[in-house]
Amino acid sequence: MSHDEYPTDRPAVVTCGLPYANGDLHIGHLRGYIGADAFARALETLGQQVAYVCGSDMHGTPVAVNAEEEGVDPEEFALRWHEQYEETFPKFNVEFDNYGHTHDETNTELTKEIVRTLDEEGYVYEKEIKVAYDPEADQYLPDRYVVGTCPYCGEKARGDECDEGCQRHLEPGEVEDPTSAITGNSAEYRDRTHKFFRVSEFADYLTAFLDDLEGTSNARNQPRQWIEDGLQDWCITRDMDWGIDYPDNGDDDEADDLVLYVWVDAPIEYIASTKQYTERVGADEYDWEEVWREDGEIVHVIGRDIIQHHTIFWPAMLEGAGYNAPRGIAATGFITINGKGLSTSRNRAIWAREYLEEGFHPDLLRYYLTTTGGLQQDVDFSWDAFQEKVNGELVGTVGNFWYRSLLFAYRNYEGTPDEDVSEEVREKIEGAIGDVREAVNDYDLRGIGLAAVRLAQFGNEYIQRNEPWKLVDDEPEEAARVIRDCVQIAKAVGVLIEPIAPDKAEALWAQLGEDGSVHDAHLQDALESPPETFDEPGEPFEKIEDDRVEELNEKLAARIEEAASDQESEAETETDDEGAGESESEPMTDTDDLEPLLEDRISFEEFQQLDVRVGRIEDAEGIEGADDLARLEVDIGFETRQVVAGIKRLHDLDELPGTKCVLLANMEPAELFGVESNGMILAAGEEADLLTTHGDADVGEKVR
Ligand code: 2FM
Ligand code: ZN
Repeated sequence: MSHDEYPTDRPAVVTCGLPYANGDLHIGHLRGYIGADAFARALETLGQQVAYVCGSDMHGTPVAVNAEEEGVDPEEFALRWHEQYEETFPKFNVEFDNYGHTHDETNTELTKEIVRTLDEEGYVYEKEIKVAYDPEADQYLPDRYVVGTCPYCGEKARGDECDEGCQRHLEPGEVEDPTSAITGNSAEYRDRTHKFFRVSEFADYLTAFLDDLEGTSNARNQPRQWIEDGLQDWCITRDMDWGIDYPDNGDDDEADDLVLYVWVDAPIEYIASTKQYTERVGADEYDWEEVWREDGEIVHVIGRDIIQHHTIFWPAMLEGAGYNAPRGIAATGFITINGKGLSTSRNRAIWAREYLEEGFHPDLLRYYLTTTGGLQQDVDFSWDAFQEKVNGELVGTVGNFWYRSLLFAYRNYEGTPDEDVSEEVREKIEGAIGDVREAVNDYDLRGIGLAAVRLAQFGNEYIQRNEPWKLVDDEPEEAARVIRDCVQIAKAVGVLIEPIAPDKAEALWAQLGEDGSVHDAHLQDALESPPETFDEPGEPFEKIEDDRVEELNEKLAARIEEAASDQESEAETETDDEGAGESESEPMTDTDDLEPLLEDRISFEEFQQLDVRVGRIEDAEGIEGADDLARLEVDIGFETRQVVAGIKRLHDLDELPGTKCVLLANMEPAELFGVESNGMILAAGEEADLLTTHGDADVGEKVR
């Protein structure tokens, strides 16, 4: 079944991975919440009915371990963070229709009901397994209470996730060389009876589900591989006190002492939070059951580290319990800071509180995070890049156009000149509306922002080309016509950019003297005439000065250094937080993990035999029948080369055109799956991180 284009006549829900209620929010979290907020707003501008819901993830070891460290009861600890999150999100214009938490009654009851249904339907069974145990602490060691080695990739891993390696979910007993995170002692494995969900029975269902799934390609491709490799059943209980009790099924079994694994009740909060929204506004306005039980549009925005939970376990649970399947899953890449992995323990992060205290407007960060790279790409944050983007695109393009055109209109006509919009400008705005529509249907946030900025860019060219200031005395009608066009473009940019920069769009809306809120405007309103009069405009954006950036860089460097020296003086116990899109990606600095350096050296002459060129990918498509291979067209200045690269599953091929790359151009031609490859694209690491250039090297330039 293919989906109808947005907007549909069914209600939609957009969700974002729940933050563990266990620590301060940072830019890694914000990328997801802002992204999902922007997507929900964009859907609304298309006329789709949408609820944007989320909640705090209160249970599990990520919360219990941190609460224990602080010597606080987990409930009190988690509630404290929950309240802080509730206050913080609106400061970034992240406006949830409902923000609940997993420990509230709605979620607790719904979770028990769903698990009971799965049990009654025969999808749950008991099995004896090995569970890590710390004899000294006299405690079982679920999930983050144990660390060891991932059996799949050999990286250091937590009990339930290979967070530094292959990102796989790990079942209890799987982690090798288990060590207690409490005492640091070797853990022993003991036999325990636990409940299992028969995920393996859903393999065919999940394969079909993935074929139909929209969103980012990483959310389809990785799970296909996991299914092909064979699905294991999923342990859904834990030996802990903190969590939702396994629902009493009347039998006197061992499950009575167990709580549900946090990953069971966490996604159910998506439903519970939607339900709470309905309870507040009434089912006539928004019916959660229509969405979750019938045929609503469910969209999850998540971090790429939790793809498995959302594309395997979650849809299987939904199907088993008789709920609707997600229509789209958009999995974002990670955030790096100055090119290095974001690390809260190393204080290499931009904290939400800090950003606000520095006095930057939230819409600047919203713009940066949504339009720097595609959704599934990693996004690097540096204050320099932030300054460049803000000053160039927001101050220089959008703000400049808004201010110069509206000031001219105000000074000469006290508002919108009484003229018709020209055909050229109407078509341009219609084109931009079409681009936004397409971007929303492609889950492409960057596309939305770029459509708005390109329209502003056109506005600047248009005013420059027509020079109304020269016409105003001798050809007043022509001047009025040009400015009429510019006011319309300014309004259209505001409507289009609202999902990304809602405050700034709202300010423009008010500036134009429009009634109500731009938040309620639809894309077509971009073509409606603004009011006849408006007040004198102010400058919408402020330039970020160089000395400010220097100061911010110094502050960041100083606190990273301070954290490093604190760590040196403290024996480190690894009980860090994070997850969901909040994605902390540590660089692999452990050189044991890297391939050894070759002893043999080559001469400069030998190096010169490699003809390595800067290229630009023009086209990218998967090769039929080959799981991993893609056919790329790469422009290298003199010619366009066809190249075959093993990146089909690792990159969103649709996002590659336009990307600069580095090509080994004098590689012998080879034929793969019947396609000739004429060069080799250079990439590093398991995810095939494509090498690129960062300055002004032209396509075709030789790498030396
Ligand atoms: O990984 C995490 O941070 C989890 N708290 C995300 C939960 S998302 C959902 F399934 F609830
Ligand atoms: Zn692994």
